[in-house]
Amino acid sequence: MKQESLLDTISSQRWLKTAGDALQPAVLNAFAAGGTTGKRLKNVLHGTWLGFPLHPALTDVPVGSWTTAAVLDGMELLGEKKYAPGADAAVAVGLAGAVGAALTGLTDWTGTTGKRRKAGLLHGLLNTTAAALYATSLFLRRRKETRGAGIGLSMLGYGIMTYSAHLGGHLVYRMQTGVDHTATSETPPKDFVAVLPEKELAENTMRCVKAGEVNVLLARKDGKLFALHHTCSHQGGPLSEGDLLDDCRVRCPWHGSVFSLEDGSVVDGPATESQPTFEVRTHDGQIEVRPAKAGKA
Ligand code: FES
Repeated sequence: MKQESLLDTISSQRWLKTAGDALQPAVLNAFAAGGTTGKRLKNVLHGTWLGFPLHPALTDVPVGSWTTAAVLDGMELLGEKKYAPGADAAVAVGLAGAVGAALTGLTDWTGTTGKRRKAGLLHGLLNTTAAALYATSLFLRRRKETRGAGIGLSMLGYGIMTYSAHLGGHLVYRMQTGVDHTATSETPPKDFVAVLPEKELAENTMRCVKAGEVNVLLARKDGKLFALHHTCSHQGGPLSEGDLLDDCRVRCPWHGSVFSLEDGSVVDGPATESQPTFEVRTHDGQIEVRPAKAGKA
């Protein structure tokens, strides 16, 4: 199926919206019920501590293990019985990895909306189906009479997992889920440029200004000036429309990621990539910015 037709077909499924409307708040409420611990756990599962999403790395475990199992199952079916224990172990390792992939994927999914949320939910449901087939397979493999059926279920699970992995590729490469939205080709200024008259930025306010081709968030908080890339690294939300928080932080209006104004680091996910920072100064009544030397602007 063409990429556009696949995404259009998924987008037209109303049941995915209904299911998402019910499930997403339930997951977010479960994290919120855990208070500070729940928030920390959510950040760990997003991969905020790594600086990139944890989910894609963990998905390699079930994909690799179940591919190994498929090869060893094939050898067994060709009469090489000695490969059977290895195949069973690979199925078990894949199931353990699938738990981690599911938890991180479900957490990342809470930070999606619209088409991304529908495609993400379908991706998760397919993977859950594949994992259930592999779990049943592992049970059936223990007895000689049911081993053949168990291997058959593995093959079915492998097909579903492969299609779901393909859908995961759409989510990343076509829908730009989990990529750094500040990594654009816009050219920042090479040196300080005036972006706003100083008197136009009051204490406790934020503005979006242009520096070269880049949109920059200007903020004045606790008597200090700050400048970050205006586009949220998570999915491109406009930071100046978010909340200016105590302790010199800003919250994105779209999915609630919180960034430090001091160094652009992620305080709370779903974002995992920090915001590029700009040096900021005042000169002749103007606020001027340029990319921070150690930053990625
Ligand atoms: S766009 Fe999702 S938190 Fe900013």
